[in-house]
Amino acid sequence: MKHAMKTTILTGVTPTGMPHLGNYIGAFQPALTFQNDPNIDPLYFIADGHSLVKLWDPKIRPQYILEVAATWLALGLDPNKVTFYRQTDVPEIFELNWILTSLASKGLMNRAHAYKDAVTKNVEEGHSDYDANINMGLYCYPILMSADILLFNANKVPVGKDQIQHIEMARDIAQRFNHVYGETFVLPEALIDDNTPTLPGLDGRKMSKSYQNTIPLFVDSKELRKLIMKIKTNSLMPGEPKDTGTCTLFAIYSSLANESEISKMRQAYHDGIGWGDAKQILFEFLDAHLKTPREKFVHYLSHKNEVAQILAEGAAKARARAQKALAKIKKKSGFVI
Ligand code: TRP
Repeated sequence: MKHAMKTTILTGVTPTGMPHLGNYIGAFQPALTFQNDPNIDPLYFIADGHSLVKLWDPKIRPQYILEVAATWLALGLDPNKVTFYRQTDVPEIFELNWILTSLASKGLMNRAHAYKDAVTKNVEEGHSDYDANINMGLYCYPILMSADILLFNANKVPVGKDQIQHIEMARDIAQRFNHVYGETFVLPEALIDDNTPTLPGLDGRKMSKSYQNTIPLFVDSKELRKLIMKIKTNSLMPGEPKDTGTCTLFAIYSSLANESEISKMRQAYHDGIGWGDAKQILFEFLDAHLKTPREKFVHYLSHKNEVAQILAEGAAKARARAQKALAKIKKKSGFVI
């Protein structure tokens, strides 16, 4: 009953290497603000099971998992306030996954963006089999994501716009279960914060691993400086007034700076600051902002046991809830003789 009055907020991050500044601004930072709200019950997990659909190197997976865990902790996740766990430590999710798989219609999966994009790519590349190289994990990905969400009766799921369709599918599948077996699941809603900016990357397009234009969060000062110096600007000379609205440097700076820092920078643009100087200011600002988290990240990477311990405690908390929920689901669906 402890959680009855609270809003359950759940989100997962698939381990695909060190997160970047865009992930920080768009996902980690907003999620971390919830941990201090007494009306919110936050659950954050590492979606290591999801990594299976596109990562098949067993040597790389542990490093990716560790890096995501270390990122959450380095950015200030408090395991006493958040149920923080690894998806594969909660096998009940995979049991529910099968129950939901047997309710979800194939047509629904045909419409999933990730699958459709993969098909489009095959057609464009001239494959005679448009399903070439598409595994069933990718195809059924939205069902596993539904299991992640529904097992914990999440009310709200903070995600990027590209994931809204998955949350709608989770609602769809939840409704189907409720219709077939009786009222069981809460219908989850996507939580999209329109005030969270989409960060541009080094080349001005959206910062994204697939464009290879990212600033990884915890690179050392030297590498950070090098990356910032690469940010694309226009060819205006020092002394010429510059536009803040279309400038990648300014967008990145203002995503983290406070009001007075931002207005000082805006004035500097108006007064014609040179690009070299603007880059140096951004570098010093980011370097100072990320110093402590970077040190913590490095600490956790070299103290894997601490991370493993934290994840084990989180898994125990998550499993206790998952087992209770799954028992109810199995009773509803007729598995208790
Ligand atoms: N699919 C999400 C992504 O790639 C990660 C994820 C997996 C997730 N399961 C989830 C997010 C459940 C929210 C809720 O970003």
